[in-house]
Amino acid sequence: MNRLLLPLLVLAACSPQPPVDPAARRAARIAALKAELGPAWDQPAPGVDGADVNLGGEVYGKSCAACHGERADGHGLRSASMRPPPANLRGGADLTEAGRMQVIRKGSPGTAMPGFEGRLSEEHILAVGAWLRDLR
Ligand code: HEC
Repeated sequence: MNRLLLPLLVLAACSPQPPVDPAARRAARIAALKAELGPAWDQPAPGVDGADVNLGGEVYGKSCAACHGERADGHGLRSASMRPPPANLRGGADLTEAGRMQVIRKGSPGTAMPGFEGRLSEEHILAVGAWLRDLR
């Protein structure tokens, strides 16, 4: 192994981790989303109304279910080793719809949740948003 790499790895392993208390992490995450969205936070998410729910179900099955689970309860096949785990999409009442759409577009930094902006078309993003709305 490269002589520089080993000490760097040791350093990385010992460096302080971000707060792990799930409630504190959650509060910080919600605060960050509120700050990102400003007044849009608790306004209706544009375009979700009238988006194609059936298409959204297909998008969900292809792009989300592996992590969030077929039932959207957070228990997908790939979820077991994820820290933090994929969210239960049937819960999360502290997150507004605009907040959810922001997470879907931009991802959740430092977690396995990818941003889908640019990976899915806007039509598909809105459709999956409409499908999630129907779950609540
Ligand atoms: C590779 C795994 C993975 C995939 C694929 C994935 N997610 Fe996630 N998702 C996560 C994880 C992990 C979190 C938790 C992030 C956190 O705690 O900050 C999350 C969080 C979310 C949240 C926030 C919910 C909340 O209450 O905090 C939404 C909404 C969401 N995902 C929707 C989706 C949608 C829609 C798709 C498909 C288009 C998708 N995710 C695909 C792993 C994934």
